[in-house]
Amino acid sequence: MTKENPTRWYDRIAPLYDPFILGSYNRARQRTMQQLRLEPGQTVLDVACGTGQNFRFTLEGIGPTGTLIGTDYSKGMLAQARRKVEKNGWGNVHLLHADARALSPAMLREASGQANLRLDRVVCTLGFSVAPEWEAVFVRTWEMLAGNGRYAIMDWYTPRRNLFTQFVNRVAASDISRRWWEPLMGTAVEFEQERMAGGLWRIVSGTKPIAQNSQGSKSA
Ligand SMILES: C[S@@+](CC[C@H](N)C(=O)[O-])C[C@H]1O[C@@H](n2cnc3c(N)ncnc32)[C@H](O)[C@@H]1O
Repeated sequence: MTKENPTRWYDRIAPLYDPFILGSYNRARQRTMQQLRLEPGQTVLDVACGTGQNFRFTLEGIGPTGTLIGTDYSKGMLAQARRKVEKNGWGNVHLLHADARALSPAMLREASGQANLRLDRVVCTLGFSVAPEWEAVFVRTWEMLAGNGRYAIMDWYTPRRNLFTQFVNRVAASDISRRWWEPLMGTAVEFEQERMAGGLWRIVSGTKPIAQNSQGSKSA
């Protein structure tokens, strides 16, 4: 795994991210959105949103009446996302520069301009293999999800250590041996999972039980 701070790394590679990735994860992104069970008008948090490659798929599900908040702590990646949002005229997408470990309902309310924000969905793609203290990112964002809300994650996982996995980890500043789905699996109901790319990518999702309703939801 690269020792470079992921924020600095992603700031540096931000202009290359979209041309490098192209549409290689598009099918996985669509499957992730299907697991998220999006509905028109919902509010979605995209954690570690990067350049906003998920946005068009999310917006297909929540429509123009929904609210999408994309958050990342690389200013370079967010600048690419902002360009995408402006180019497409996505008025219901709000970008927030923040460390996901320190997100709060108040930050989401301020970013979206919605005093009564209720977080219906959380998605994180290719973020948990990269984020330092990824467990803290999960705990913080799960807390903010409304009861009965759905959480979906798509990322790499393999326990193997070889030249290929070293290459992936170096290019993405990641650690793809993390078992990032386990906290969600341990706490969610209606847990679903799917594997792609010969088992190297996993898409998992689950619903937050009503009893765990968060302070960030209207009905709390
Ligand atoms: C591989 S990129 C994934 C970007 C995007 N989600 C996608 O699917 O294309 C990983 C992203 O995680 C972000 N990141 C890592 N740790 C973070 C944290 N603690 N808070 C916010 N963003 C974080 C990085 O800045 C980077 O943009």
